[in-house]
Amino acid sequence: IDARRPLIAGNWKMNMDHLQSIALVQKLAWTLKDAKFDGTSVEVAVFPPFTDLRSVQTLIDAERFTLAFGAQDLSPHDSGAYTGDISGAFLKALSCTYVIVGHSERRQLHGETDEVVNAKVLAAVKHGLVPVICVGETEAELEEHGTSAVPVAQTKAALAGVPVGTPVVVAYEPVWAIGTGKVATPETAQEVGAAIRAAVAEALSADDAAATRILYGGSVKSGNIAGFLRQPDVDGALVGGASLDPTEFAAIARFPD
Ligand code: G3P
Repeated sequence: IDARRPLIAGNWKMNMDHLQSIALVQKLAWTLKDAKFDGTSVEVAVFPPFTDLRSVQTLIDAERFTLAFGAQDLSPHDSGAYTGDISGAFLKALSCTYVIVGHSERRQLHGETDEVVNAKVLAAVKHGLVPVICVGETEAELEEHGTSAVPVAQTKAALAGVPVGTPVVVAYEPVWAIGTGKVATPETAQEVGAAIRAAVAEALSADDAAATRILYGGSVKSGNIAGFLRQPDVDGALVGGASLDPTEFAAIARFPD
């Protein structure tokens, strides 16, 4: 299904200033070009810090790189007295396609609840951005609730009030696998991916569920991406650490070609 063209997304987190971001995007784009990557069978997207977005946008635009980009967070509000926040309208004005919402680091370090995540998803949709909704359980939640319960509940909460037919991406990122080198098995990613797809069907519609890309995230590398992408309910990856190395990230992105 074309709507489910695999998405390989690089979440840079709080790494790379605007000068470093230019070097990284250039190197990534050239590496992909050398490998004859044209973006038809796989979509590659980068998620730099806010302060890099203008530089990354200008570069991608000027060089016509086949890279998409987005932000790592947004405000649930449109504009006004929200010191330090960035609105979806500003991101749209910078031609962002995507915005990550509800990353576990935001949930844990900034106390973002399911309600806040939902408000941010609605703000993203309102401004024409595709939310990349992150869901996933901690090790303690895994022991208490089993494999899919938390990601499913978070998915349903995030999608409350989202109109049927809205494009969204859901990333399953088990908290215990982020930056730890502990990776979920492809079978677990598939099990949770299928459960998330069923949750999207319930929250939106069966057609939406069939068109929604579900990503796996957590210690993805070029050496383990293949197993995930072979799963019918895993349509790509959200990559942290390995996305900061253009050669390694390009190798992850090229796999399905
Ligand atoms: O959003 C991506 C992420 O949290 C995974 O990070 O470093 O384990 O690939 P990493």
